[in-house]
Amino acid sequence: MTNKKNILQDSHGRDHAYLRISLIERCNLRCTYCMPEQGVQLSPKSHLMTYEEIYEIAKTFVKHGVTKIRLTGGEPLIRKDIPVILEKLATLPVELSITSNAVIIDKFIDVLKANGVKKINVSLDSLDAAKFKHITRRHEFEKVYNNILLLVKEGFTVKVNAVLMKGFNDNEIIDFIHFTKDLPISVRFIEFMPFDGNKWDMSKMVSYVEVMNYVNASFSKDRVVRLEDAPNDTSKNYKIEGYKGSFAIISSVTNPFCDSCNRLRLTANGHLKNCLFSSTESDLLTTLRTGKPIESIIQKAVQAKFKVRGGMDTLEKLQEPKLHNNNRSMITIGG
Ligand code: GTP
Ligand code: 5AD
Ligand code: SF4
Repeated sequence: MTNKKNILQDSHGRDHAYLRISLIERCNLRCTYCMPEQGVQLSPKSHLMTYEEIYEIAKTFVKHGVTKIRLTGGEPLIRKDIPVILEKLATLPVELSITSNAVIIDKFIDVLKANGVKKINVSLDSLDAAKFKHITRRHEFEKVYNNILLLVKEGFTVKVNAVLMKGFNDNEIIDFIHFTKDLPISVRFIEFMPFDGNKWDMSKMVSYVEVMNYVNASFSKDRVVRLEDAPNDTSKNYKIEGYKGSFAIISSVTNPFCDSCNRLRLTANGHLKNCLFSSTESDLLTTLRTGKPIESIIQKAVQAKFKVRGGMDTLEKLQEPKLHNNNRSMITIGG
């Protein structure tokens, strides 16, 4: 099976150089759109990858062309052995980054720096402490806010991810953009996406077009600058003339960016997901534990990748609960 030159190239010609590794299924927040109200069935600890297994699997992907690894969760920093995971992965020739809710990230500044992490994406859906509590079911706004300032001060490149929900935080779009006036961060507005148990419905989502309507109503046209997007970016990037930071929109629902997709996902229990929306998974960990090579499983999974959103290529299909519920809940995918 591994006779093909590039096992990370799919049948649509896309090369996959970006691996997102979920380290843990648990989180120290309880965001309503991410974790189902009744919680999730957690994998027994023995089913989760150890740090050695994470390293072995990552090494295999790097051998075949992965150059970027992002650690996700749940909340990746609550994993007890995060320092050693970072140390092991830092020995690989990759850009190592992390997506975190930043509640406890101030305790990890040194370890992140020591292991070459330069880019950190932080989830923050509201700049209002009461709303933050409402969405996350935890009182941690001050910590997250202060930690964003700390990360910037410490020289990290910071992106702030805000999932927009109609009637909840769409009235904060302009506040978030003002947040970029003196701070060199990128605030990314994310269209709310459907996953198992997150009570998604299209009417709650704030679209790319709607975000730009808010922006154009508040800033004159000549101040809104379209920036060049990096290759394989998930976001469409803009800035306000004269502001230190920038803003962007991640439009997986109304404007998917699957043509340039270079991402694969490894779940905390060692399953490969070829797409955020895939309804199937390939168990790498069980095979690794038997001492057998995992390349042929990886190649098969990559070959099976759909062109768009796990096969939900139209809005109608994405809205079909029996299709989008046929996936994990977000907390166990890791974004
Ligand atoms: P960068 O490496 O900074 O470009 O970050 P990223 O956008 O790849 O990762 P992040 O963890 O910050 O994710 C931000 C949002 O983009 C989340 O809501 C993710 O679910 C979404 N996202 C990330 N990767 C993909 C993807 O492959 N497909 C889709 N549809 N959404 C994605
Ligand atoms: N729709 C869009 N983005 C989501 N995230 C979590 N759940 C959803 C969803 N249903 C985002 C988080 C985090 C990133 C990894 O994924 O806010 O920033
Ligand atoms: Fe890639 Fe799937 Fe995301 Fe599209 S929806 S960009 S194919 S991971």
